[in-house]
Amino acid sequence: MRDAISFLRRGKRVDLKPANPTQTVLDYLRLEEKSKGTKEGCNEGDCGACTVALGRWKNGRLVYEPVNACIMFVGQLHGCELVTVDDLKRNGVLHPVQSAMVKHHASQCGFCTPGFVMALFTLYHKGQAPTRQEIVDHIAGNLCRCTGYRSIIDAAREACGGQALDAWAEAAGATGVALQAIDMAEDVFVKTGDGFMAIPAYAESLTQLSLEHPDATIVSGATDVGLWVTKQLRVLPKIIHTFNVKALHAMTMTSATLHMGAAVTYADAMQGLSDFDVDIGEVMRRIGSTQVRATGTIGGNIANGSPIGDMPPMLIALGATLHLRHGTTERAMPLDDFYIAYGKQDRKAGELVWRIDVPKLKSDEEFRAYKVSKRFDQDISAVMFALKVKREGNHIRQALLAMGGMAATPRRAPQTEAALRDLNLADDASFQPVLDMLARDYQPIDDMRASSVYRIDTAKGLLLRALHELGGNGSTRLVGVRSRAA
Ligand code: FES
Ligand code: FES
Repeated sequence: MRDAISFLRRGKRVDLKPANPTQTVLDYLRLEEKSKGTKEGCNEGDCGACTVALGRWKNGRLVYEPVNACIMFVGQLHGCELVTVDDLKRNGVLHPVQSAMVKHHASQCGFCTPGFVMALFTLYHKGQAPTRQEIVDHIAGNLCRCTGYRSIIDAAREACGGQALDAWAEAAGATGVALQAIDMAEDVFVKTGDGFMAIPAYAESLTQLSLEHPDATIVSGATDVGLWVTKQLRVLPKIIHTFNVKALHAMTMTSATLHMGAAVTYADAMQGLSDFDVDIGEVMRRIGSTQVRATGTIGGNIANGSPIGDMPPMLIALGATLHLRHGTTERAMPLDDFYIAYGKQDRKAGELVWRIDVPKLKSDEEFRAYKVSKRFDQDISAVMFALKVKREGNHIRQALLAMGGMAATPRRAPQTEAALRDLNLADDASFQPVLDMLARDYQPIDDMRASSVYRIDTAKGLLLRALHELGGNGSTRLVGVRSRAA
């Protein structure tokens, strides 16, 4: 058992005993290390001004990912290399990404610039020329309010053109050795005043800790818990991180099912789930941002029970099974049974969200998912729609419909599902009674994202759209992969 976290900084190993288990990486940089290049904007993972790069040893190679330092706890640096904008200029020479930003006049007030530079640093390290769309998706979590994005995209196109040739690429071998020398096979437990910060390395240590401290906060990616600290000013004395438990990162695909450990990040799950259906990938590219998806986990999103999470409705409609673990006892349930009421899930004290099993679509099944939000990128849904149907020719034989933003939890629509059974997709005239059923299944509320009337009308519109698309009469989509593939 160790009593310090270890990470790499400017080529050196740092061993740190955080005095506060919820100290953010941004506060560590600005207040302790006095590296002030990284900026604080929103302090809630929305603007990207605080973007830093984390180097991790993944599948035998060094991978740099952008993360929001404002909602990342310092414990999450354990086993990583931390790179910030203060590090990029070497011997008076700007990094290629910085030079391109200067050349293309991609900065005015400059407040957003460190975040853009670090996001582009990670794109540069992907080592292949991105398309314009890939650049736009990559920086969707970085907001600029004065320069405009065209010049930033031009800078990205010029800088991120091929193989990375900077000091970090040169040092990749040595960095990899140093990262692997940090013993990730040891549990970390740092005592902090009244509480602690624990980073268990084994499933058994995690379940044991969670049994002993049912009042502890379980932190997966901290993209939600981080805001409890920065926005709600909550004091969380006991923190148990899950990121170092290998079993929770396992992702295996059998012939019929994708098994995902609870700590699989959105970034890591994206490809596997997108292969189920293009709509899933399309919604996922609009969940949070590149930074949020690099740390946010599917299991964390399920555990927090948000009524407006985008992933749970899709997983419910796919028929996912949730596995929970309490000590050595595991139980499983259909994901929709997990959500009892607003903020209340079927999870005992000390029980952990462990694994999600998602069945693949069968040859007679089809899927549709649509997200409606005020802003296209990085916004919270007003309505999230997901539908799986089993069909026989033009007839729907079975339907699983789940929606987000329509109730206090992500929820299925049993009466609409029943009405969809045996619907003839070629008979448009029979659709209206089915659409009307949605108002029986859902009585959404008015809030700042949408009114109740808007939500019901939108839900009806989305179901109508899905029925037309499934019947082969869908109108052309203006955005999205399905439209590009068509
Ligand atoms: Fe805005 Fe961190 S300060 S994302
Ligand atoms: Fe001012 Fe981007 S340069 S916000």
